Amino acid sequence: MIAGKAVLLVIGGGISAYKSLELIRLLQKASVHVVPVLTRAGSEFVTPLTVSALAGNKLYSELFDLTAESEMGHIELSRSADLVVVAPATADLMARQVHGLANDLASTLLLATDKRVLMAPAMNVRMWEHPATQRNIDILRKDGVLMVGPNEGDMACGEYGLGRMAEPDEIFAAIEAALSDGPLKGKRIVVTSGPTHEPIDPVRYLANRSSGRQGTAIADALVAQGAEVVFVTGPATAPRPEGAKIVEVETALQMRDAVLDALPADAAVFSAAVADWRMAEESGSKLKKDGSGEPPALKMVENPDILKTVSKLDVDRPRLVIGFAAETDDVIGNATAKRLRKGCDWLVANDVSPGTGIMGGTENSAIFVTDDGAEQWPRMSKRNTADALVDRIVEALA
Ligand code: CTP
Repeated sequence: MIAGKAVLLVIGGGISAYKSLELIRLLQKASVHVVPVLTRAGSEFVTPLTVSALAGNKLYSELFDLTAESEMGHIELSRSADLVVVAPATADLMARQVHGLANDLASTLLLATDKRVLMAPAMNVRMWEHPATQRNIDILRKDGVLMVGPNEGDMACGEYGLGRMAEPDEIFAAIEAALSDGPLKGKRIVVTSGPTHEPIDPVRYLANRSSGRQGTAIADALVAQGAEVVFVTGPATAPRPEGAKIVEVETALQMRDAVLDALPADAAVFSAAVADWRMAEESGSKLKKDGSGEPPALKMVENPDILKTVSKLDVDRPRLVIGFAAETDDVIGNATAKRLRKGCDWLVANDVSPGTGIMGGTENSAIFVTDDGAEQWPRMSKRNTADALVDRIVEALA
């Protein structure tokens, strides 16, 4: 699907520049034409020779010589590709882009291009969290720049946190989505997935058996149709979808905040198994046996219903809000009532009675409830269920 397309790859100055070499290899394998641009700082981390040898192409650098200029001017270069990718996108490169500076080849290309730009930010966690960087990210997003990552993890500087550049395969998937001309191109869709964990004390939590497989399958299917997906996930065991923006949360409250932050969106799919309750008060220290044989009384309060909250928003309600329901009895009756109670447009109900193997399993047998009534879907894999749902989303948003 992306074979034959061209990517202008700007490699900024960060330790993760080495991962961009692997990205070039993945793009080459997919027959994507890579035109590499290495900033001066980038060339401190990877050599121009390695980059151009891997890309099998002329390397453009900050030291733009006259010969190159006569071969291809910077305006033409910025428009010759189908997509401009910046990986790693340093805090400095992004700040310059926000202000429209054009003081080196990379920033000039970014200013001159009429193509979509995809950035893979990479920096120290403090730099990432700095309000200036966060402001810049906001502005870039509003300018239509696509983002992949950053991820959370150990950093080269010895710290831990958000700021690691997305892995080459994640960036590749984001490139694939950006280059795809699927029917959901330009549509932003929020997907919740997985369980939530509600802490009891520092070592214990309330949880459920949701694997997050259905949510990942839905997000994968949406990305494959060209959608921009924000995937808000609790601590799920299923792999994360590729090419989506991933927001990792733990509790229902964090999930609600992340979903509201991700709006506006064209559609929202609530496949998470959100805990209905959390502890009224989380104990700051580990609960101990007191010797009386009496277990502690765990006082709980209800969590906000995220699906209902979003369904009933006056401002920023997505055009299409889709809920899920896990039922054991009178599936159609309960699901029909639940759709009306929650105010969502569609509800996908699953029979999770013991013995069906659906909760935490790989298959699903769904009943699809809309304004028009209930439709029984055949038992099929969660991926096929996702494809069936995404087909309906495509029809509705087209
Ligand atoms: N949901 C949510 N926030 C919650 C609880 C549920 O967004 N706090 C969403 C789920 O993601 C799912 C739908 O609501 O899309 C249905 O969840 P379910 O647990 O089946 O329904 P409940 O409202 O909890 O009803 P009950 O447990 O009484 O069946």
